Amino acid sequence: SVKVVIIGGGSSYTPEIIEGFIQRYDSFPVSNITLVDIEEGNDKLETVGALAQRMIAKASVPIKLEWTLDRREALIGADFVTAQIRVGGLSAREKDERIPLSHGVIGQETNGPGGIFKAFRTIPVLMDICEDIHDICPSAWLINFTNPAGIVTEALLKNSKHDKVIGVCNIPFNMKNSVAEMMNCYPNEVQIEFLGMNHFVFGKRVFIKGVDKTQEVLEKLMKKEIDFSPANIVSLGWSAEFIQSLQMLPNPYHQYYFQTDEVLEKDLKAFRENGTRAEVVRKVEKELFIQYQDEALNEKPKELEKRGGAYYSDAACSLMVSIYNNSLDIQTVNTFNKGAIPDLPVDSVIEVNAVITKEGPMPLAVGSIPLSVKGMIQQMKALEELVIRAALTGDYFEAYQAMVMNPLVPNEKTAKILLDELLEAHKQFLPQF
Ligand code: G6P
Ligand code: MN
Ligand code: MN
Repeated sequence: SVKVVIIGGGSSYTPEIIEGFIQRYDSFPVSNITLVDIEEGNDKLETVGALAQRMIAKASVPIKLEWTLDRREALIGADFVTAQIRVGGLSAREKDERIPLSHGVIGQETNGPGGIFKAFRTIPVLMDICEDIHDICPSAWLINFTNPAGIVTEALLKNSKHDKVIGVCNIPFNMKNSVAEMMNCYPNEVQIEFLGMNHFVFGKRVFIKGVDKTQEVLEKLMKKEIDFSPANIVSLGWSAEFIQSLQMLPNPYHQYYFQTDEVLEKDLKAFRENGTRAEVVRKVEKELFIQYQDEALNEKPKELEKRGGAYYSDAACSLMVSIYNNSLDIQTVNTFNKGAIPDLPVDSVIEVNAVITKEGPMPLAVGSIPLSVKGMIQQMKALEELVIRAALTGDYFEAYQAMVMNPLVPNEKTAKILLDELLEAHKQFLPQF
């Protein structure tokens, strides 16, 4: 028997991962799924649970589904635990976005000041979850997509007793899909060599059916023939010079760093017209939940694709399937560097291609970081370490350091203003400060 526990099971995303398990039932025979959520998400959990039940019934797979508010009870006997939580919900996200934007700074949930505060709220909660896993089901794998996924995964791998933790994101998957679409082939024929960290990863080389097609792909990128921005991020495209000199595929989040003013201008316009992304997402969720309540619905609704995290379950489920079967295939995960990138600490968490074994991911060597982005990647990694340290200690000056060193924060005075305002706004979810 295989038991999967989904923490944050009341999320509107859950039908996607349920569909993922149903589709893969033959190679990954899950016998039990338990959805866990907190009191606050109670009616959501009920609604999502009932829909998941209908999906399972329709597919007639023998998966036993349960949902509960008792996390420790749920973890008994778990083989895999997934975490998809949002500490403080969408209203906390709204503050992460609104407060920086109102000071003319990028307001985004995983980058800049908002990303730092999302880490501050999330890391202590995930540390607790890991402690429970270590106590109750120590052999279970924690598959984490809670954002900022790379930072959270590093915090857990370095500081919690549980070491079976893997971080995943849909961005590498999206990049592969976009390349496949543009090159007229199947996503599973595309191999991208990734270099960097979560939401700061570059595609170093692209192979299609084993043939190096990097130059062709870069040329299409210069002609703006590819767009791999998910629903939550603007898509400005890149100038030919940038791509020509970089010789790598950027990911959509790089726009925040390399086109900051243009992104800010667009984001501020969207903010004035429709509010923050959190507010847009709240509307999408509301519509989704109306559909979920319809007892005739027994599949994942199309509208879920309006979410930036669409297809995250492909990354998550493929990973579980390969661990379970010891498949030894290559997938892109967030795991310890272990020397794959010699210019980063061995215990940094990077987003990297890895051979997936029953014992976990074995990262493939990437090699040195090209000089063009070496400083930037090392700076971002140091920043992530500062964020983790501050999240664990609750020290004001460590938090200040993280804020002032973030490349999206323009100066020390703004850093302090944002820090103080965000600390105040989120204090209910920041017991460590
Ligand atoms: C992405 C990211 C996820 C993020 C999501 C947000 O694609 O990879 O890490 O959670 O978008 O999407 P949303 O619809 O909530 O704005
Ligand atoms: Mn352990
Ligand atoms: Mn992501």
